Amino acid sequence: MKLSSFAYFAGFGIKTILSGEKKPILGTVILTDKCNLSCKHCSVNNITAAIHPYQQIRGEMRMLYDMGVRILFFCGGETFLWRDGSKSLRNLVIEAKRMGFLIVNVVTNGTYPLDLPEADLILLSLDGDRERHNAIRGDTYDIIMENIRHASSDNICLYMAINQINKGAIRAVCLTARDTKNVRAVSFNFHTPYPDTRELALSRQDKAACCRTIEQMMKDGAPVLNLKSAFPYLIDNSFPTPCHQCVVVENGKVSTCGRCIEVEGLCSQCGYFFVAEYTLLFRGNVRIILDMLRTYLRYI
Ligand SMILES: C[S@@+](CC[C@H](N)C(=O)[O-])C[C@H]1O[C@@H](n2cnc3c(N)ncnc32)[C@H](O)[C@@H]1O
Ligand code: SF4
Ligand code: SF4
Repeated sequence: MKLSSFAYFAGFGIKTILSGEKKPILGTVILTDKCNLSCKHCSVNNITAAIHPYQQIRGEMRMLYDMGVRILFFCGGETFLWRDGSKSLRNLVIEAKRMGFLIVNVVTNGTYPLDLPEADLILLSLDGDRERHNAIRGDTYDIIMENIRHASSDNICLYMAINQINKGAIRAVCLTARDTKNVRAVSFNFHTPYPDTRELALSRQDKAACCRTIEQMMKDGAPVLNLKSAFPYLIDNSFPTPCHQCVVVENGKVSTCGRCIEVEGLCSQCGYFFVAEYTLLFRGNVRIILDMLRTYLRYI
């Protein structure tokens, strides 16, 4: 991360902690909900299958920038399916940088060639070893690993959503993150149980066991882009929700924190690590602040 960006985020953090303001810093634009996969744990794919046009996405980016957002995520559906005439995902990332976003990240299922050196991070969903990943995501593990090997830059961070199917594969994903060319780190979430995927939810004991494994892997040198000081809050779901510093826009509709904010009762079972990490950070939790400085400066 550039020193100037670091200074900007530090200033925003201090101001937010001292004033208790609810201004956003992290924004997500949903490019499409169209997807080439239908993963067992996912509730947001192919509901409309609309691919939103370039001018609309650009307008949404501008709106987020004007709201104060400086960390931008492109998400879907599958982001690499996005296209408008000659414009591709790569053009959106370049445009976002030109607009002034300080960090621009893309979330993908990794089944398309990975040529996106302009992105700060490509969060690439890998949900286990071959067997468990494929049980969730169809027969995609080998093509994803092939795409990672041939990626044009080393800006990949694996992204694992831990659920009942793959809770035993945390170690495997950590080792893949450590040992695979072009992969910088791994970041985790717990399954957030939408009404149609409740059977995949983790119990408190499951979450505690997962956090023990992640902590052990951190000690053993695995590059984990999460804060272990947030684990107790994630295990107990005792972090504040929603995250007022996060905002998402899909087809012109702006929601605080996530699209999931509309699902009744879901926030109290939220499994997204970023929500715990950001809400605790902006409440001035000292251990989280120090942990975040240590972790983010190392991997971003
Ligand atoms: C909705 S996908 C969109 C981007 C891309 N298609 C992908 O799979 O990475 C974004 C991330 O959300 C995760 N995800 C989907 N449903 C989830 C749930 N119920 N709880 C936690 N994470 C979930 C996916 O595993 C993926 O890492
Ligand atoms: S690839 Fe992503 S958007 Fe598509 S079904 Fe899987 S998790 Fe959902
Ligand atoms: S806190 Fe609520 S809105 Fe935010 S990500 Fe979690 S479930 Fe979604």
